[in-house]
Amino acid sequence: MSDTTIKTEILIHDLKVPISVIDAGAKSLLNRQESYGPLTEKQVKVLKRIIRNTLTTQRLVNDVLELGRSREGVMILSDFPISSLVTGVLMEIFDFVDPDVAEVIRKARDYGELEQAIQPNNTRLSFDPSVWKAKVRLDEVKVRQILRNLVINAFKHRASVVDISGRIVEKQLILNVSNDGRGIPLADHQRIFETYFTRGSSIESAIRSHGLGLAGVMVLLKDMGGVLKLNSDDGKGAEFIVTIPL
Ligand SMILES: Nc1ncnc2c1ncn2[C@@H]1O[C@H](COP(=O)(O)OP(=O)(O)OP(=O)(O)O)[C@@H](O)[C@H]1O
Ligand SMILES: [Mg+2]
Repeated sequence: MSDTTIKTEILIHDLKVPISVIDAGAKSLLNRQESYGPLTEKQVKVLKRIIRNTLTTQRLVNDVLELGRSREGVMILSDFPISSLVTGVLMEIFDFVDPDVAEVIRKARDYGELEQAIQPNNTRLSFDPSVWKAKVRLDEVKVRQILRNLVINAFKHRASVVDISGRIVEKQLILNVSNDGRGIPLADHQRIFETYFTRGSSIESAIRSHGLGLAGVMVLLKDMGGVLKLNSDDGKGAEFIVTIPL
């Protein structure tokens, strides 16, 4: 491991303490109302959202530190259903995009209810019932990171619509994330996969762009023997297709 890598990992490692402080603070406000004062229904909702997202952050920190191991080529395989992969990613992202929708997603009991929950937000799913229920044996953390990054990008750059679909074809998992919007000119198709390359988004976003997402996706895919295909051009939206061998 290089010195810079270790320094980066220690910085991330040190996020654990302040995150726990945020988590503990929010939980005290929520659970100790007799000493901290009563809360309105809306305040409870916001605090619950904070607590959910500190948990997501804690998981992300753990994932980053785990990734250190995977750089050495370690894969952590498990059987997990496609449905929980997609639902998990949507829940995380909607907590940011539209918290009310995130609430509805959490209550959704099946594919149909999930589809309905995100439909008003112009987000569409397309999974065959057999694929939705299928379990795949892959490194879940890595697949989740890939999907999360592609979906966040799609939301950042869409004009209005995001489409997510999945198929299993000849022992390969194929995930497809697309959005309408200004797209990516052919001249930039190589560069967007380089670290620190960013072209900014069509909408103002509270998420700062670092130009790291797609570079990370490529590294993770390489680990798993997967490939990524991009269909896009100026004004034509963007479609990212990920193929991962099972
Ligand atoms: N769905 C998309 N539509 C249009 N452009 C995109 C899309 N996804 C990525 N890009 C372009 O590729 C660039 C690189 O994407 P990447 O995810 O690597 O970085 P980022 O999103 O800018 O920042 P970060 O992911 O680090 O927060 C983006 O800045 C954007 O210009
Ligand atoms: Mg990104």
